Amino acid sequence: MGAIITVDAFWGDGGKGKLCAYISKEYDAKYIVRAGTGPNAGHSYFYNGTFIHSRMVPTGCITGDFRGIISSGVAVDPQIFLAEIEKYSLDGKVFVDWRCPIIEHDHISAEQSDEKMIKIDSTKSGTGFARADFIMRKGKQAKDIEGLSTYLVDGIEEINKSARDSVIVIEGSQATFLSLYASDRYPYVTSDNCTTAAFLDDASLNWQYIDKVILIVKCLPTCVGNGPLPFELSTSEISSRQLEEYGVNTGRSKRRSGQIDWDRLEYAANVNGPTEVALTFCDQYSPEMKSAVSKDKVTEKIKKLVVKIEKITGAPVTYLSTGNELSHMIKL
Ligand code: IMP
Ligand code: MG
Repeated sequence: MGAIITVDAFWGDGGKGKLCAYISKEYDAKYIVRAGTGPNAGHSYFYNGTFIHSRMVPTGCITGDFRGIISSGVAVDPQIFLAEIEKYSLDGKVFVDWRCPIIEHDHISAEQSDEKMIKIDSTKSGTGFARADFIMRKGKQAKDIEGLSTYLVDGIEEINKSARDSVIVIEGSQATFLSLYASDRYPYVTSDNCTTAAFLDDASLNWQYIDKVILIVKCLPTCVGNGPLPFELSTSEISSRQLEEYGVNTGRSKRRSGQIDWDRLEYAANVNGPTEVALTFCDQYSPEMKSAVSKDKVTEKIKKLVVKIEKITGAPVTYLSTGNELSHMIKL
């Protein structure tokens, strides 16, 4: 019982959507709660060959019977939310906290033409500008938007009441080193922190309900947008090793680290306090593991990496993600 929080150790795109969908089924969760800054994140995976992708609704609600709530700390783009509800037939299943800040057209157009946003290579979803207006007490809330009226709930009350006797998966977005206040790369960051504590705060969830924190570690970390990236591979190395990846929201090609930065992993563990680690994109690091689903397929290369990660984070690696299908997962 209680909440399971998922948080990315590095710069994002570590496979949070898939992990949340997987653990929600594993633990027979009652709720999946979306945390993080807004629709700047895109979570995706394949389910029986079908591409599942969302920017607002908790991704796991698309492929499982869970009640989804967008927590009050997340900026909501009503158009994107309503389009996802329709596309995946989520009426009556996914709801919005009535307090959520709203992204309006002006926020999006302002972000698209703002020099600073262009410099940091923002996703230009309007998230940052909407949050800034909200902080200035100039923003709208979900309760002010007519089209959202049938989707409004008091998420804070509902989640805190239910956490006593149900499992709640908190689907955080972005990543530790994209955090506004907690990373080392300002201004190349998003518009709020993206840590365990930040996601708890987005949901206004009582800390006593935390049951597990799963830190997502991508074997060969990637980053979209500008800003420092340690151990960065050249584009020719990326293509010769067939490590190309593209952002699902923006189509931008991802930059890639050639190895895990152990100092940053230690920092991410210290900040987020994981009880478990999910090691993702194992097939990119050890191609023989592609699509593997059983423990006997774990290669020596991955085993070595697991030992080092456990030593640095102080938490056991309990999941190995091996491909883009929901089922491509090994539970250790
Ligand atoms: P913004 O939050 O859209 O303004 O983007 C600020 C920076 O954070 C840019 O470098 C984005 O690429 C990055 N960013 C924002 N959201 C995500 C995400 O969900 N995954 C990866 N990078 C992100
Ligand atoms: Mg927040």
